[in-house]
Amino acid sequence: MYNEDVSSAPEIDWAELRALARAAATRSYAPYSNVTVGASALASDGNTVVGSNVENASYGLTLCAECSLVSDLIRQGGARLVAVSIVAGDGKPIAPCGRCRQLLFEHGGGDLLVDAGDDAAPLKLSELLPGAFGPEDLGIRRNR
Ligand code: THU
Repeated sequence: MYNEDVSSAPEIDWAELRALARAAATRSYAPYSNVTVGASALASDGNTVVGSNVENASYGLTLCAECSLVSDLIRQGGARLVAVSIVAGDGKPIAPCGRCRQLLFEHGGGDLLVDAGDDAAPLKLSELLPGAFGPEDLGIRRNR
């Protein structure tokens, strides 16, 4: 048999992911900070998902690019996140904020790979969010 699938994990094309993230950054709405951010990810079903940051005049309501990426993921069926690239308008990876590390953890877990740029190996989300609180904690910590 040709092209037998020996692994269920889709292959990660970091260059493609970064290109998608850069394109998404050009469609951000960031008139207050002027920090445009784009995110893209490979999902376990082989799909790619994208997102851009969307700011608001009430600053605290800003949606990070990762928020919009997770919305795209769920809209496409809710597969698991495998690899993610998050870049600012300069095209270079930007550190995901604390809230977004938690958002990414919910949908990718600690093994989710996070782009660290051309000169560094991707990081595991577990390195960026050690000891994470996650969905399993709810199941085992309920009092009733
Ligand atoms: N931002 C993101 O989109 N993702 C992050 O993980 C870090 C910050 C956005 C939010 C805001 O629009 C801008 O960057 C400056 O904080």
